[in-house]
Order: sequence, then C-alpha cells, then structure tokens
Amino acid sequence: MSLISARDVQRVYRTGNIDVRALDGVSLDIHNGEVSIIVGPSGSGKSTLLNILGGMDQPTSGTIECNGVRIEEMTNSGLTRYRRESVGFVFQFYNLIPTLTAAENIGIASRGVESPIDPSQILAQLGLEGRESSFPHELSGGQMQRVAIGRALAKRPALLLCDEPTGALDSVTGDEVMATLCESAHTSNTAVVIVTHNEGYVGLADQLIRLRDGRIAEVVRNNVVSLP
Ligand SMILES: Nc1ncnc2c1ncn2[C@@H]1O[C@H](COP(=O)(O)OP(=O)(O)OP(=O)(O)O)[C@@H](O)[C@H]1O
Ligand SMILES: [Mg+2]
Repeated sequence: MSLISARDVQRVYRTGNIDVRALDGVSLDIHNGEVSIIVGPSGSGKSTLLNILGGMDQPTSGTIECNGVRIEEMTNSGLTRYRRESVGFVFQFYNLIPTLTAAENIGIASRGVESPIDPSQILAQLGLEGRESSFPHELSGGQMQRVAIGRALAKRPALLLCDEPTGALDSVTGDEVMATLCESAHTSNTAVVIVTHNEGYVGLADQLIRLRDGRIAEVVRNNVVSLP
C-alpha cells in the first residue's frame, strides 16, 4: 500500500540572485512495509527530498500526500504534529543527547506520543538488551546508531527517514545497521526511506530510486524498472 504519493515536486533555493533547482519535478510513491533506497551523486537532491517528505522543508511546487493528507498544504502546527506523530528521523551522526542514557534518549523523543514502545523493549529488539543505562560515550558508533533508530521507532512512526545512516560507520557495522532498518520495515510495516552513497546497499531495496540533478533517473521496484 502506498503511504506517500509525491507528484511533480520542485524545490528551488534562492541564494542571492541565483536559483538552485534542488528538485526538478520528482514524482514517486513510498510504500508501507518497504525499504526505499535513494541514491545519487552529491547535490542531486537526496536530502532535500527527504526533508520535504518529513515535513522539515516545503516544496516550491508540487503535491505530497501522506495517507491521503496533503503535506504541502499543512499549517505550521499541522506540520509539527505530522513530524512528531508520523515521522521518525535517523541521521548520519546519531544526534543523541550526551547527558542522557540510551533509555532516556529514546523515552524523551516519544513523550506525548500515544502508546510508544517501551525503551527497554525497543533496545532489546535492536540487540541492545541491558544497555538502558549506558550513556552515548559508552557505546560504539553502531550501538549509538541503533539507539538513534530505537528513538525514531519508539513512537511507531508510519515513515522512517534515514539520511546516510551508515555514513559514519565501518562497513561491517554499517551492514548491521542496514539489516536492522530492513527488518524494522518488514516486521513493523513501517515505510523506511534510506539515503545512501553506498551502491553496495542497493540490493537491499524493495524500491530503488536514483536521483540525478534533482530529477528521477530510474526507479526499480520488485525488479521492475521504470524510467521517467
Ligand atoms: N538550504 C539550502 N539553501 C540553498 N541551497 C541548498 C539548500 N539545501 C540544499 N541546497 C542545494 O540544493 C542542491 C541539492 O542539495 P541536497 O543537500 O539535497 O543534495 P544531496 O543529494 O543530499 O547531496 P549530498 O550527497 O552531498 O548530501 C545542492 O545544489 C545544494 O547546494
Ligand atoms: Mg545529503
């Protein structure tokens, strides 16, 4: 089932007198329970697309529907609610609060959310059983990233957006984090979107989206290739 439908999304950034067309007519669907992987050269618009899907940035034109609700028409408070209730974010550098334990980092992010997953339960699910009281500096990079994934998943988001989640990890740990993300998509029916530079991961995708110069160059879903 399609969770997100984006149609003809454009994002133009104006810096001084110069317009940068970061996204130039992107249309795509993101599906529940699937891993969508976005690849493309630096500057091709991957982060811009992720930020717009997550309600952190607004398109210059085009439409984005999530569960039939138009994101680009939401008010600021609607967008805040959308980000808080429907979207989980995972970034390259984890962004854990250093003075809070693993469990506290997870708990604080799902405050005010209806029936969040218990931090201990999600830590165990992510292979971090018994690490509730560990501070970020006591964890490895891969472990910190798994806490960050737990933090994002604890509120049971419909959409999990990950921008270079393995960018700071060695390849073995990166593979483990990717496996964790894929399992989460498939077991919790979350729509997981992962931006990566690593071509080695494209085989993990249920849907592969290749961006070039702000446009979709290729989409491969269930071994079916569609070109724009
Ligand atoms: N806030 C901004 N203001 C001005 N230009 C921006 C802004 N954000 C992105 N851009 C420009 O939009 C284009 C796309 O940027 P984006 O960050 O989406 O690329 P990317 O594919 O994520 O690249 P990378 O792989 O290096 O992270 C680039 O030319 C970038 O300079
Ligand atoms: Mg980027």
